[in-house]
Amino acid sequence: ADGPLADQLGRPLHDLRISVTDRCNFRCSYCMPKAVFDKDYPYLPHSALLSFEEITRVASVFAAQGVRKIRLTGGEPLLRKNIEVLIAQLAALRTPDGQPLDLTLTTNGALLARKAQALKDAGLQRLTVSLDGLDDTVFRRMNDVDFPVRDVLDGLEAAHKVGLGQNGGLKVNMVVQRGTNEHEILPMAERFKGTGMVLRFIEYMDVGATNGWRMDQVVPSAEVIQTLQNRWPLRALAPTAPGETAQRWAYADGSGEVGVISSVTQAFCADCSRARLSTDGKLFLCLFASQGHDLRGLLRSGAGDAELANAIRAIWQGRSDRYSELRAAMAPDTGGGARRVEMSYIGG
Ligand code: GTP
Ligand code: 5AD
Ligand code: SF4
Ligand code: SF4
Repeated sequence: ADGPLADQLGRPLHDLRISVTDRCNFRCSYCMPKAVFDKDYPYLPHSALLSFEEITRVASVFAAQGVRKIRLTGGEPLLRKNIEVLIAQLAALRTPDGQPLDLTLTTNGALLARKAQALKDAGLQRLTVSLDGLDDTVFRRMNDVDFPVRDVLDGLEAAHKVGLGQNGGLKVNMVVQRGTNEHEILPMAERFKGTGMVLRFIEYMDVGATNGWRMDQVVPSAEVIQTLQNRWPLRALAPTAPGETAQRWAYADGSGEVGVISSVTQAFCADCSRARLSTDGKLFLCLFASQGHDLRGLLRSGAGDAELANAIRAIWQGRSDRYSELRAAMAPDTGGGARRVEMSYIGG
């Protein structure tokens, strides 16, 4: 059962995105709207979560099958108790040719000022912070828990100080929503230009079933790039790896790069090499899947590594998901397969 692994469309399995908690301290309306994620929301009980040992075991089997990059997500991953312990375990894993994995994490930054040093010490290589605007009023409205932008900026600075920004390791993700924060595009670009941090503008996506997504709230990346170009000349950069989410652009004046993630207007399913492990150990083959494949059951029934590897290989070999490409071919505003799972559970 060895040899390179490919799915039905010939795509390799290179990335594993692991959701370590389905909870978050923010209530971004495009992700965990307050009306749905209230105090009665049925979050997973602790016993349903994969333990750190279980996550590391699954990750090591994935690494043996060709995974080179692991991203921890949520929910808000820094809410998971002792997350640095898990990071240290994952940092010790190796690819079949003896390389460490590309180990990173996506956070809202709220707890980052406190955690940055511990994350770095545990062996985290790089970090992505979500930040939807610099204007405090806009930011507080978007996170919907009245969280101040200052604290996230302090977190970013702490991450930079401890060295998580080495080799472009610090990225900032901004989800752009028409009518909400599009006027923050230029201030955000200006703020991060020349800092070595890479800002990426993300098209608002129709993930999950609770955010009430509408096509007219999407700001196409082409428009974002045009807005930037009008102010600073840009030059397109070649992709660093096939199947990358972001298209990269360099400021012509040499002050760094920006990216756009255009999953709505320019789907990037053709080379998608990403699998997702939900908080409770289900393997999802697409961000927009409605069902996952239970790995926790296998783990907890005492399956050996070979059995786990065979199960993962069979699941990946059966994969033909390419949701964003299919939705692009549909009429605007037609929600694709209903009952999609929430991003906070599956991991962004
Ligand atoms: P880098 O390795 O740093 O480039 O990170 P990344 O872009 O793979 O991950 P990140 O967590 O920063 O995600 C950026 C945005 O892209 C988020 O809105 C994700 O939900 C979205 N995204 C990531 N992977 C996929 C994917 O496979 N499909 C779609 N449609 N969106 C994705
Ligand atoms: N569309 C686009 N990006 C989203 N994210 C969360 N929900 C959405 C959505 N509906 C982003 C977060 C974070 C990343 C993991 O996914 O802001 O940056
Ligand atoms: Fe939390 Fe991130 Fe979702 Fe916002 S986008 S609610 S910070 S998980
Ligand atoms: Fe991959 Fe699905 Fe995203 Fe397409 S929509 S890039 S297949 S996760």
